[in-house]
Amino acid sequence: MPDTPPPRVDLRTDRAHSARVYDYFLGGKTNFPADREAGEQILREWPGSRASARAARAVMHRMVRRLAETHGIRQFLDIGTGIPTEPNLHEVAQRTDPACRVVYVDNDPIVLAHARALLTSSPEGRTAYIDGDLREPGRLLDAPVLHKTLDLDRPVALTLINIVHFMSDEKVLPIVGELVSALPSGSFLALTAGTADSAPERAEIASRRYAEAGIENHLRTRAQVERFFTGLELDDPGVVLINRWHPELGKGPALADHEVMAYAGLARKP
Ligand SMILES: C[S@@+](CC[C@H](N)C(=O)[O-])C[C@H]1O[C@@H](n2cnc3c(N)ncnc32)[C@H](O)[C@@H]1O
Repeated sequence: MPDTPPPRVDLRTDRAHSARVYDYFLGGKTNFPADREAGEQILREWPGSRASARAARAVMHRMVRRLAETHGIRQFLDIGTGIPTEPNLHEVAQRTDPACRVVYVDNDPIVLAHARALLTSSPEGRTAYIDGDLREPGRLLDAPVLHKTLDLDRPVALTLINIVHFMSDEKVLPIVGELVSALPSGSFLALTAGTADSAPERAEIASRRYAEAGIENHLRTRAQVERFFTGLELDDPGVVLINRWHPELGKGPALADHEVMAYAGLARKP
């Protein structure tokens, strides 16, 4: 069952929320008029933002495939999971090995309300959900359900997909460092982060619209994204725009650089 302390994110549906705006872009049904309005505003200014959101989700699938198929990872800690959208991370990982285990974390009560869809593990594997916050790494690392689900003496992939752009470097870099240091050698950090490098004007507009909707967001240069991987061994091809990150591992339309607004990187803890 989900671990359920009181929600710390406002459940208000009259204000746009990042997870629901993203769900709207992905074609989901878990969104409200304020989310659709914020999404439509962004789409009017950049019709490609829907394709960009889908590409942002698709890179998670490819990263999980590479982690499971190439690097033999069988345990995942996914923070900033989002509203469930099939295939979810465990479904991708368990295609490689049904014994894969996944702990999902999100701080949004809407995601919590739909967490059941994340608890559909194969019988050989296991999934769990923590209603938790990236800003409280100590609480996440101490969560009993984390230890019941994952063996922290064996490699774990920490996946931070489309979440770090909601926090400043000052706040998020030490948190990622703390989480990675709690994982054993052979663990991985998989991360994507929003950027304005590929489409500066559009990214700035999207960023402004999120800010106007009350959603804090931070765009990063490639060098800034590389800082997340300090002390780790970057996997091929390094930090690149998401459309360039192992496209051969997924299907779907290829996007040009100017159509995506995020970098992806995967690295191993020595
Ligand atoms: C854009 S969605 C990404 C979802 C998913 N990782 C994906 O790529 O499809 C970002 C998610 O991060 C969650 N989130 C934002 N800040 C968070 C925090 N401080 N702690 C936990 N989750 C957070 C939001 O609730 C949202 O579900």
